[in-house]
Amino acid sequence: MPWVSLIGFMCSGKSSTGRTLARQLGWPHFDTDAVIVERVGMSVDEIFRERGEAAFRALEAQIVEELPPERDLVLSTGGGLVLNQPVMEILAVQGPIFWLNVDKADVLERCQRPWAARRPLLRAGEDLAERIDQLMTEREPIYRKYGAPIPGGFAHPREAGRHILNELSLREEFRVYFGRGQDPE
Ligand code: S3P
Repeated sequence: MPWVSLIGFMCSGKSSTGRTLARQLGWPHFDTDAVIVERVGMSVDEIFRERGEAAFRALEAQIVEELPPERDLVLSTGGGLVLNQPVMEILAVQGPIFWLNVDKADVLERCQRPWAARRPLLRAGEDLAERIDQLMTEREPIYRKYGAPIPGGFAHPREAGRHILNELSLREEFRVYFGRGQDPE
């Protein structure tokens, strides 16, 4: 029944690492942002603009509450999902949570790439470094509280995936997934 959840700041590679990890485990992958976009038929940016952040957060919570608790799955979350404590408690009950821990300089560099720039909370025109700094200061204690840190995150999703697989293989509750079965009674 475990879910393996990935948390972390924007541009830390949660989606790509989650995809890779799910492939490695042979489990389905859910990505809260992608599910929301598909369900609402609007981009994350449009949802923030037209409905506001609170509505987006409510959708995030709803997606998690609707996931099947009895299934094995990998979950990539949006960077702000951690702000919802009841949702984080669900993830913590469902299985291990990993925090893709990427430093500010890397986030700044990565979030400025054209394909990554459509993040409503990192608006152009603001001082991006300052904004990242502010959001990270707010969120880092929560990432740290809930997630086992995986350093480096985004640069090499496959490597981050392997790192997580290795961590999982050391956990007692995951031994059945790594071909070691149960100890004979
Ligand atoms: C957000 C992160 C985004 C997306 C939305 C809000 C945040 O996801 O959910 O723009 O509050 O950090 P990524 O972390 O995948 O960029």
